[in-house]
Amino acid sequence: MTRVALSAAAAAAAVAAVATAASPAVADEMQDATDAGVAFLATRCAAQQPLLADLAAALESGNADASRTAYVASRPPYEEIEVLATNDMLGDLDAKIDARPYAFDGGEDDPAWAGFHRVERDLYRDGNLTAAAASTAALRAAVDDLCIALTNNTVNVTAAQSLAGQVALAYEVAAKKVSSEEETFSDASLLIFKHNYRGIQALFTPFKEAGLAAEPAAAVDDAYAAVVAAYAAIDTAGVTANAVPARPYSGVTVAERAALMNATYAYADALKAAHDALLSGDAGGASAERAAVAAAAAVPRLPALAAVRIATDAFPNETAAGVAAFSTQCSKQQQVLVPLRAALEAGNMTAARTAYAAARPPYEQIETLAASFEDEDTAIDARPDAFDYGERSPEWAGLHAVERALYRDNDAGAAVSALDAVDTAVASLCEKLKDPTLFSAAGNFDGMLALSLEVPAKKISSEEETWSDLSLMIFRENAKGIAALYEPFAPVLDNATAAPVAAALANIKSLWSRVDAGNDWETGVAFRAYSNTTVAERADIHTAFMGLHRSLRVAEAELKATAPAPPSPSPDATTTAMPSPTNGDDDSDGNTCFPADATVDVAGRGAVRMDALSVGDRVRTSTGGYSPVYLFSHADADVAAMFVRLTTASGAVLRLTPTHYLPVGSGGGTLTAAGSVVVGDALTTADGSTTPVTAVARVAGVGLYNPHVLNGGQLVVDGVRTSVYTTAVAPRVASALLAPARAAYMVGGWTTGVLESGSSWAWLLPGGAPPWLGGVSSEAPTGGRAAGGVCRHVGRATRVDGTACPPPPPPCGACFLSCLSFCGCP
Ligand SMILES: *[C@@H]1O[C@H](CO)[C@@H](O)[C@H](O)[C@H]1NC(C)=O
Ligand SMILES: *[C@@H]1O[C@H](CO)[C@@H](O)[C@H](O)[C@H]1NC(C)=O
Ligand SMILES: *[C@@H]1O[C@H](CO)[C@@H](O)[C@H](O)[C@H]1NC(C)=O
Ligand SMILES: *[C@@H]1O[C@H](CO)[C@@H](O)[C@H](O)[C@H]1NC(C)=O
Ligand SMILES: *[C@@H]1O[C@H](CO)[C@@H](O)[C@H](O)[C@H]1NC(C)=O
Ligand SMILES: *[C@@H]1O[C@H](CO)[C@@H](O)[C@H](O)[C@H]1NC(C)=O
Ligand SMILES: *[C@@H]1O[C@H](CO)[C@@H](O)[C@H](O)[C@H]1NC(C)=O
Ligand SMILES: *[C@@H]1O[C@H](CO)[C@@H](O)[C@H](O)[C@H]1NC(C)=O
Repeated sequence: MTRVALSAAAAAAAVAAVATAASPAVADEMQDATDAGVAFLATRCAAQQPLLADLAAALESGNADASRTAYVASRPPYEEIEVLATNDMLGDLDAKIDARPYAFDGGEDDPAWAGFHRVERDLYRDGNLTAAAASTAALRAAVDDLCIALTNNTVNVTAAQSLAGQVALAYEVAAKKVSSEEETFSDASLLIFKHNYRGIQALFTPFKEAGLAAEPAAAVDDAYAAVVAAYAAIDTAGVTANAVPARPYSGVTVAERAALMNATYAYADALKAAHDALLSGDAGGASAERAAVAAAAAVPRLPALAAVRIATDAFPNETAAGVAAFSTQCSKQQQVLVPLRAALEAGNMTAARTAYAAARPPYEQIETLAASFEDEDTAIDARPDAFDYGERSPEWAGLHAVERALYRDNDAGAAVSALDAVDTAVASLCEKLKDPTLFSAAGNFDGMLALSLEVPAKKISSEEETWSDLSLMIFRENAKGIAALYEPFAPVLDNATAAPVAAALANIKSLWSRVDAGNDWETGVAFRAYSNTTVAERADIHTAFMGLHRSLRVAEAELKATAPAPPSPSPDATTTAMPSPTNGDDDSDGNTCFPADATVDVAGRGAVRMDALSVGDRVRTSTGGYSPVYLFSHADADVAAMFVRLTTASGAVLRLTPTHYLPVGSGGGTLTAAGSVVVGDALTTADGSTTPVTAVARVAGVGLYNPHVLNGGQLVVDGVRTSVYTTAVAPRVASALLAPARAAYMVGGWTTGVLESGSSWAWLLPGGAPPWLGGVSSEAPTGGRAAGGVCRHVGRATRVDGTACPPPPPPCGACFLSCLSFCGCP
């Protein structure tokens, strides 16, 4: 598990404190102790490498069981090294080696996510050895880098950093890892914990020789012994260097987890005392350290998604309707807290647990908008890992504190105190929800998108409702909250956009009838224990919520396009790995394509989606025959864009970007931009007959594809004849420009396949004209493509300004594109 790096400032302050506090001799001793710890961890890294080689070999052999065994065997060393991960010095290596998906915007789907947990997912849940082999290769490269850094000690660990790392990891195990399953897919979390303990103790031990007084040193050793004993009580394998724990973590009871957590806290406290003793002599040192530890222990939250996308004053009624639904839920929340308090005050814990389960749903819906009232959200629903010292943080309160008191500690008095704070925060929340001016369509969508991603990326793998085991309730209510906020927008969305959202919501509901069978979706409170769900069921929940998230992204894109532009768009610096809406309604952007799910008729295969089409496929054209695809001038799966949707009397439904030409009218028709087609215009169907347009709409869709066929004919897409041309380049010019590419395909047997958007072809045709065609020079995209005067040898020897192009590149074999592109001289 990766943790937030010590902030540079906090680390620097801590280092300075040590430097000024300690005499040179003591400082030397402490540095020696630090280096001894790092040297030990370098040996652990050296042990890590062959274990990963074994894993790679097992994967290569295709033996899944052997691979899983090798995976588990490969886990221990890094979990010891991880004690250094709080420090900046590991740079991005910790993220490459040990990050969990929720540290990334796109969760599991984020291509930047790498390391052990990715291998774990590929191997245990998906059983995909090919994917696991690729993940393992990336992991090995990062580990190799780590070993060099540790062995050569270029990480420059200071005593202050080392001590801060020890304290932070111990608290993290106690505050977070023990309650949130760490090794989700392999169920091997116990393995993680014991090697965390070993790593901490390895780093600590040398400090006993570096002037640490006997008392704090003995306290740490005693606390470590207690942790080892607590662990052994749970897992007979004990805290040994040998890998395999005897028990899956999912079978460890809440009480057993509590005992381990308790011992780990005590260990962390002893380490903290030792740390303070070592750094004593400088009052500022201790507080700087405290700040550093606090920074290190902070838990990464999901980064915010992009900022305002929909104009702030757009869709006020739809926004208010969703907020009003939450206002109702908030009143309900106040009501259901009453019986909980009554049961607690009567000291009836059985009744209180029932009342607790019934008291949880409303807020889990309202939580969709949590970012709009962060203070109340923290007071109502924060989990201990959001605080520096976990459960021991005095500022931690709310429903999870009630949960702990009720389910784990059996302490009605503590539950009532926690409930007091909840009541106050809920009252404040209900007031805010009565004021629609505090909310906007953009904010509502940010909330829906963030929560629909957070459930699959984070909540599912980290148990959400740890002590009561009620996570299935949490997810169900989260889905209902998203639905409540979304539904008022459905009527203003196109059906084609609204339908996938509705389907995704229905899919979640139907999944619940299986994973939580017998528990009514609306009102049921007899929830199945989340710890009783299988990894496969969790995977289904993940997939269902990701489907919801994606469909909401498309809805958001459509609303953005149909709302007036925001006064001052400030693009968020945060990029996400998810499809981001393009400026698809802007006719000048040159996205002249069909969406990914538009289909063409491929000889011998029937209807094939655009995103499944390959160069060489023989596609039905206006001539009645089939012709091979020789080029995609655009092929981009990862965008959401606006399309014109034309419905005809014959029942055909064609979607294409507004600047795309298609023949309109009888007798073969006239090439007309899709954006100017109106109801009543005649389109031509595959068989050459014409049919009138009965409806025109603007809809959002995913993907942008524009295939070109060799005979230069008109494509038949979703049963309607279209062209491949755009308003940006005259069709006649475009056809001429494409001639060499057609020739290349015929002569060379094109093998490079799909052209990436952004390469030199993409701007040429039909997305935009080279400036030397005149008239559109300011529009012609050049950056990253033909920019800088990259000249190719087809046709032109001079730039538009008259200067000579460089000589053509030598002929090349594999890469046709680079030999054959037109002269891209700007
Ligand atoms: C396995 O993973 C590879 C690489 O990620 C992917 O191409 C392939 O489709 C996956 N196989 C299955 C059966 O999902
Ligand atoms: C680490 O040290 C070894 C020799 O001890 C040397 O060969 C290697 O180049 C060093 N690596 C780096 C990155 O400095
Ligand atoms: C560690 O110190 C060495 C020698 O002073 C230096 O070359 C190296 O860049 C430092 N490494 C880092 C990560 O600061
Ligand atoms: C936690 O440890 C304390 C002593 O440090 C002990 O009094 C208490 O009973 C322990 N609680 C649990 C649940 O083990
Ligand atoms: C929004 O609500 C107000 C007040 O109820 C109403 O006057 C207005 O017509 C509504 N706007 C739309 C677009 O429905
Ligand atoms: C506690 O409440 C339950 C109902 O939830 C009731 O059946 C039971 O008798 C109560 N126990 C006591 C001791 O009052
Ligand atoms: C959109 O869907 C609703 C029901 O889901 C239906 O009543 C309506 O006719 C549909 N509209 C169009 C234009 O398809
Ligand atoms: C766990 O699941 C099994 C069936 O898979 C079921 O018999 C059992 O009652 C469940 N336990 C809980 C606590 O839900």
